[in-house]
Amino acid sequence: MIKGLMIDSARHFWTIDDVLKIIAQAAISGINTLHWHLTDDQGWRIESKTFPKLHSTDYSAQCNGEFYSQDSIREIINYAAQLHIEIIPEIEIPGHSHALLTAYPELGCSDDARAIICPGKESTFTFLEELFAEMCSIFPGKYFHIGGDEAPKGGWRKCSHCRKKLAEIADENSAYDKNDYELLQGYMANRVHALLKKQGKQTICWNDALAAKNLDTDIIIQYWTAQYADLMKPFAEKGGRFIMSDMFHLYLDYPYSMTPLKKVFDYKPIIKGHDFSNYPGFLGIEACRWGGEPLPQMMDTLFPRLDALFSTASDYNTFTDSLKKRYRDAENEGLHFHPLDKCDPEGEERQKETFAFMINMNAKMNQDAIQHMENSPAQNKDFVESFIKYFFEPSDMEWLEGFMKKIGYSNAVSK
Ligand code: ACM
Ligand code: ZN
Repeated sequence: MIKGLMIDSARHFWTIDDVLKIIAQAAISGINTLHWHLTDDQGWRIESKTFPKLHSTDYSAQCNGEFYSQDSIREIINYAAQLHIEIIPEIEIPGHSHALLTAYPELGCSDDARAIICPGKESTFTFLEELFAEMCSIFPGKYFHIGGDEAPKGGWRKCSHCRKKLAEIADENSAYDKNDYELLQGYMANRVHALLKKQGKQTICWNDALAAKNLDTDIIIQYWTAQYADLMKPFAEKGGRFIMSDMFHLYLDYPYSMTPLKKVFDYKPIIKGHDFSNYPGFLGIEACRWGGEPLPQMMDTLFPRLDALFSTASDYNTFTDSLKKRYRDAENEGLHFHPLDKCDPEGEERQKETFAFMINMNAKMNQDAIQHMENSPAQNKDFVESFIKYFFEPSDMEWLEGFMKKIGYSNAVSK
């Protein structure tokens, strides 16, 4: 079973020493897999000897040019291997690829459309084949993650190459609709899956890709978003393989008020009341830690929640008792985990932390949503309320609504 943690070096560049510290602590929590998000809009963090422009310094204010050399990546892989941890690299396509498209705009649909890679041109796949072959040669493990989340398809709609390719794909099967741009995402994932297979790798994709009717069911799906939740059951029933990273339980960038320690301890791979743990395709679970923050914040948000996720303790009290030595050992190394008496906040404390986070996230999400989501939901009170309802139990709703009114939240979010 996969017991994973994802870290996001695209948004925050940790030193090699910091990455080793994260791995060392996560190993004690019980992980056997580190999923390393190495590329995104904000930067390309892995050295390519074939395409060095990917991590050159001068192409964008957003991309600050820090990256891991192949030797330092190997050092990290070897260290992780000693702790029985396999590293799964993630190189994102077709969206979240601003860094790549800034370096190689010819891979986009047009020179000024840098939001998404163009699958309509054969030259894209020539490039990707060479790039992924080089990337595969660095990582000895069997899995390779190709992202696939939040791909804004507007550029594809305007691109003559993409429209032509989509018409060809739709012609192949009467069940396909020539206006269904998800098919292009499926096509692209399938092509990259085929070239990774040639390198002996198994592809993983975020569950957004399940919206593509033509997706190769041999691709492993990583579940994160409820937006495509209904597609999970048919996929699992057909024998599809998947990893669970439900953002409402396992995204450890959310504060303890939204994802308290006990909620993580109690996590079961259940979506909308349906238990996915009994399917043969259930490969395991992975916590994700998105975003760029320095090491102290990483330590605070990851631990002890990662311990809770992979704990084998029979009940919660036994688990928290077992943490005392863990905290002492960490302190001795100068690392500070989230204070145990603040891991399950309640009442006013919980409300305040939740809303401070939501307001801050809302301000950031406006920009992100514009870049990544078509028909992006208005960042208004309705959106925030429905988002929040996924995080909390119905029994929490009364205080949430009262608190929203008290702080005039609808005004705060529309700013
Ligand atoms: C994701 O959180 N966008 C996979
Ligand atoms: Zn195109």
